[in-house]
Amino acid sequence: MFNIFKKKSQVDAKLFYHTDVHSHILPGVDHGSQDVMESLEMLRAQIDMGITHVMCTSHVTAETFENTPETLTEAYNVLQKAVEEEGLPIKIYPSAEYRIDEYWTKEYEAGHLLPMPGKRILLENSFAQELIGIDNMMFELQIKGYRPILAHPERYRYYYDRKERYKALHSASVKFQINILSLEGYFGRSARETALWLIDQNLCDMLGSDMHNMEHARLIKEYIGSKDWKKLCQKYDLPNRIVNDREFDF
Ligand SMILES: [Fe+2]
Repeated sequence: MFNIFKKKSQVDAKLFYHTDVHSHILPGVDHGSQDVMESLEMLRAQIDMGITHVMCTSHVTAETFENTPETLTEAYNVLQKAVEEEGLPIKIYPSAEYRIDEYWTKEYEAGHLLPMPGKRILLENSFAQELIGIDNMMFELQIKGYRPILAHPERYRYYYDRKERYKALHSASVKFQINILSLEGYFGRSARETALWLIDQNLCDMLGSDMHNMEHARLIKEYIGSKDWKKLCQKYDLPNRIVNDREFDF
C-alpha cells in the first residue's frame, strides 16, 4: 500500500520553475546523453517535471571534452530536429559548462564561446583547487558583457573551510547555481550541508538538474516528491528567491 501512495506523489511532483540552466542532454558530446534517443527520454523527463526551457550545457574541458561552439551547435541541431519531429513541448538552447582550465583560457581569449541567451555563461571550477586570478577573470568577463553563473559551488571542497570565498565571489555579481541532486544527497553529506548553508545565507540564485542520464532524472523526480524538498521550498521561500525563470526573457 505504502509504495502505491509513494508512486502517486512522485507522478504529481513538479518543479516550481520552468527553466533548467544546467544539463548534459546534447547527444554524444560529453559523458551525458550518448545518443538522440537517450536525449529525447531525458527531455520527456524534464517535461514531466514541469520544465519548458532547457539550457544544454555540455562539458567543455581540456583533454576530455574539447568541444567548440561548432561541435555543440552540430549536436544541438540534430537534437532540435528530433524534438520538432516528436512534437515535444520544450525549447532547448545550445550552450556549455566551461571548466576553468587551460582550454577555457584559450577559447575565452579567442572569443570562441557559446553562451546562453543574454550572454549568461555557466562556469565550473576545477575540483582540485581554486584557480588563481578567478576574481579578476569574473570581473573581466562582466566587463565584456558576459554574466557568469558558477555551477554547483557546493561541490568544491576547498571552499568548505574558506566560506568567505563564496561571499566574495557572490558579491562580485557571480550567480550561484546549486544542483538539486546535491540537496538530495547524491554528492554526499558535505555537498548537501554546504548547499543548505548557501541557501540559508541567501547565496543560491538558481537550481539546476545537471542531468547526465535517466538515473539522475529518476532521482530528481523522486526527490521533488519528498517532504524534505517541500519543507525546504517553504522554509526558504524558494519559489520567490530562485531566479531561473526571471533571468531569461522568453
Ligand atoms: Fe554539469
